[in-house]
Amino acid sequence: MSKRAVTALVAGAMIVTLSACSSGAASSDSKAAGHKLTIGFSQVGAESGWRTANTTSIQDAAKKAGVELKFSDAQQKQENQIKAIRSFIQQKVDVIAFSPVVESGWDTVLKEAKAAKIPVILTDRAVDSKDESLYVSFLGSDFVEEGKKAGDWLVKEYDGRTDDVNVVQLEGTTGSAPANDRKSGFAEEIKGEPKFKIVASQTGDFTRAKGKEVMQAFLKSQPKIDVLYAHNDDMAIGAIQAIEEAGKKPGVDIKIVSVDGVKDAFTAMSQGKINYDVECNPLLGDQLMDLAKKVKAGESVERRIKTTEGTFTPEQATAALPTRQY
Ligand code: AHR
Repeated sequence: MSKRAVTALVAGAMIVTLSACSSGAASSDSKAAGHKLTIGFSQVGAESGWRTANTTSIQDAAKKAGVELKFSDAQQKQENQIKAIRSFIQQKVDVIAFSPVVESGWDTVLKEAKAAKIPVILTDRAVDSKDESLYVSFLGSDFVEEGKKAGDWLVKEYDGRTDDVNVVQLEGTTGSAPANDRKSGFAEEIKGEPKFKIVASQTGDFTRAKGKEVMQAFLKSQPKIDVLYAHNDDMAIGAIQAIEEAGKKPGVDIKIVSVDGVKDAFTAMSQGKINYDVECNPLLGDQLMDLAKKVKAGESVERRIKTTEGTFTPEQATAALPTRQY
């Protein structure tokens, strides 16, 4: 065989080998791409602006991460969340994530997920289960801290005043972690100052309609209200309507401190109707997708991941409004 013919044969063999390699790589890639991570996510409901932003964040992040998301809206009912979790178990999803509407009563269904070897991630809200093996991680805010921040504002706002300050409180959904913790954090912060009197406290279920209704009742039953502490912005916005309809000025006649930091509340702050807002970040989607991928890959993850959040005065809220994402 001539030298030229040998060179041609070697070159041909190299091309065949290279193309074989590259087609092999492509097929193993497509295998990897073929198994999409599937997350079953049970959402609390659509009770507030915060919740809508949270849902959008999770759905967008799933698309971006190439995750198949099975999404279920529980309409603020624990039984619907339990049904959704059982259906995720039957469908053999890779990971279950959920934001528990209330803190108690999850052990049975979480044990079922554990028996099926499906890891569970809590997002936004916690459960009060003693058995920590029932979930792998909890991603979300520190609600006690949020309540403390609201209380701290109150203490500073009335510094030096000696007469009674009458406070009404609009609580979140009864039995939910944010309602329990925001209430206890606030109480803890103001307990050293007997001038603060919580004269009425009732649930407004985190909704505008309920917030308005309960505030109307407070205005009728309480001869003097100095401050409203609302566990979320939607209830505060509902209450603002009630206050205005009663012929009073929100933010002036009745000062308002709230939690969440959604756009509508910032607009109300820019109009002087809310005096202070404690931020609760709903944009948990990207972190949840990362966490689920790590859990599925068997990597170790932190048991508690707290979101970073701030507080807003009306001036800060007005400045932040044009670029506020939610
Ligand atoms: O769990 C987070 C809380 O739930 C938010 O503060 C509230 O707006 C929501 O409905």
